[in-house]
Amino acid sequence: MPAVSLELDLNRYAPAAVRSILEARFPAALRRTLWVHPEDPETIQILDQRLLPHRLVIVEIRSAAEAAAAIREMWVRGAPLIGITAAYGVYLACLEARWSGSFPYETALRELREARPTAVNLAWALDHMAETLHGVPPEQRPERALEAAGALAEADVAICHAIGMHGLALLREAYARTGRTVQILTHCNAGRLACMEWGTATAPIYLAHQAGIPVHVWVDETRPRNQGASLTAWELGQAGIPHTVIADNAGGHLMQHGQVDLCIVGTDRTTRTGDVANKIGTYLKALAARDCGVPFYVALPSPTIDWTVRDGLAEIPIEIRSESEVLNISGFDPHAAQVREVRLTPPGTAGHNPAFDVTPARLVTGLITERGIAAASEAGLLSLFPERR
Ligand code: MRU
Repeated sequence: MPAVSLELDLNRYAPAAVRSILEARFPAALRRTLWVHPEDPETIQILDQRLLPHRLVIVEIRSAAEAAAAIREMWVRGAPLIGITAAYGVYLACLEARWSGSFPYETALRELREARPTAVNLAWALDHMAETLHGVPPEQRPERALEAAGALAEADVAICHAIGMHGLALLREAYARTGRTVQILTHCNAGRLACMEWGTATAPIYLAHQAGIPVHVWVDETRPRNQGASLTAWELGQAGIPHTVIADNAGGHLMQHGQVDLCIVGTDRTTRTGDVANKIGTYLKALAARDCGVPFYVALPSPTIDWTVRDGLAEIPIEIRSESEVLNISGFDPHAAQVREVRLTPPGTAGHNPAFDVTPARLVTGLITERGIAAASEAGLLSLFPERR
């Protein structure tokens, strides 16, 4: 079990107290989801996202196996963060291989690659690390790997900020058109917790809020793991951004009644033709948005584009997770002052839990990338990424 550096009960500490504890002891945690331990460069620190919004727990990752477990068990999650964690996992594997000549380096890398199947950022980051380390002598590998993983982390910050700037133009335009609070619907957590900073779908929202544009976010709870209710609501709350959690089934109704100006979601893998894999339920929101004439945007960092895939429905592997996530639900029980898991279904009921779905390109209004907003099509993406022709 990875060592715990900090554990705070968020139901007992006021946000200001949490902030001052972090400022004093873990300043990186105020901005980042993953960072190198300031006094021990052979340790990576992460937020354990499984415990938010009830407990803020910082854990130490010291081996490639721990990095793989953190991805597999969703201590870290969200396509960009999964990729960056894997890159640091390679760094840790390089360190382990330096200490022990018999360390099974290739097996450790395979374990990282197989940790989760849908987000393509994982394979992308591992391929990038392999290319960087090709031909580097083993004793120099840790240093090179650390540098390369750090560069990926910084690039993610820049990419998300650029997505934010392009998406901001859409929110500005919506505000200018309506003259009232811009209503945005989002699904799952494509926020700063899914990335290094900013987030993808949330970056335009953070920048609009900073620019004084009034925004309000409808946050889909996102069953079965509730990343919206637990993570997006938490991070928007921390940033002081007005938001309301809705049941997943409520979005269509809100759109029918003119209460959503636009949807912005993230993605775990987008094909070169613009089909979008994202958290399960995204497709239904896109269908409702199309029926109601609500623009449906996908915030898409370029490492999430799988240029090898054309047909998202046929070719993107969809992760099937444990049925227990559907049959049970966990949350804070104020009477017992603790987090509890309870069963929702009759004993013995079967559950099925596909974790992602694919929204066909035809339902997507635009792809907000770091290079601009593209039509969801091969021509649209190639106009921004001509080097992929
Ligand atoms: O299963 P998760 O929580 O890793 O799924 C995350 C999502 O589906 C996000 O919406 C997507 O990764 C985009 S993250 C910027």
